[in-house]
Amino acid sequence: MRSGPRYLRRIVPYPYTRADAEEYIARCVLDQRSTRFGIEYEGHVVGGIELHIDLDKRRAELGYGLAVRCWGGGLLPEAAAAVVHYGFSELGLEKVFAFTDVRNSRSQRVLEKLRFQREGVLRRHEIGRDGKRIEHVYFGLLREEWESRQPG
Ligand SMILES: CC(C)(COP(=O)(O)OP(=O)(O)OC[C@H]1O[C@@H](n2cnc3c(N)ncnc32)[C@H](O)[C@@H]1OP(=O)(O)O)[C@@H](O)C(=O)NCCC(=O)NCCS
Repeated sequence: MRSGPRYLRRIVPYPYTRADAEEYIARCVLDQRSTRFGIEYEGHVVGGIELHIDLDKRRAELGYGLAVRCWGGGLLPEAAAAVVHYGFSELGLEKVFAFTDVRNSRSQRVLEKLRFQREGVLRRHEIGRDGKRIEHVYFGLLREEWESRQPG
């Protein structure tokens, strides 16, 4: 698996080994507050989407990733729309939100396609792999915004 942009390597180990995958799955099983979905394409799992849920506050953070060879085909926005739908309709959420690295224009484009609002920039919010602080963009989608786009 190719690694994608350098700024993503803090999140996804590279090279990505079987042990990395097993560790990731173990963490998923133990994590009670997140719901994770795989994206299957042509018989292979090519990506994943997760909702990190805070039911008390009726909100969830959306996270996602897709194999590099599938980028640019609109696969992730389509799958994420289904997960967002699940969050509002099945979990009764009031808000779904996401953070992206300010340099990650592809991810910001995905959130725009999903009609998330860009709410602000969190300055020097995270620590990058090189130890330097980086900026995050915060996006949110409210229940009423999502409802207004539902057919019928
Ligand atoms: C962000 C990501 C999920 C996008 O998924 P995707 O299915 O490729 O999304 P899309 O096909 O809708 O592409 C989104 C945008 O990326 C850009 N893009 C896609 N492929 C590209 C390419 N080969 N070269 C340059 N830009 C490209 C385009 O701006 C596109 O928007 P457009 O359709 O309006 O032109 C994917 O790039 C990814 O997994 N990235 C690494 C993980 C990541 O960033 N996760 C989010 C952390 S917050």
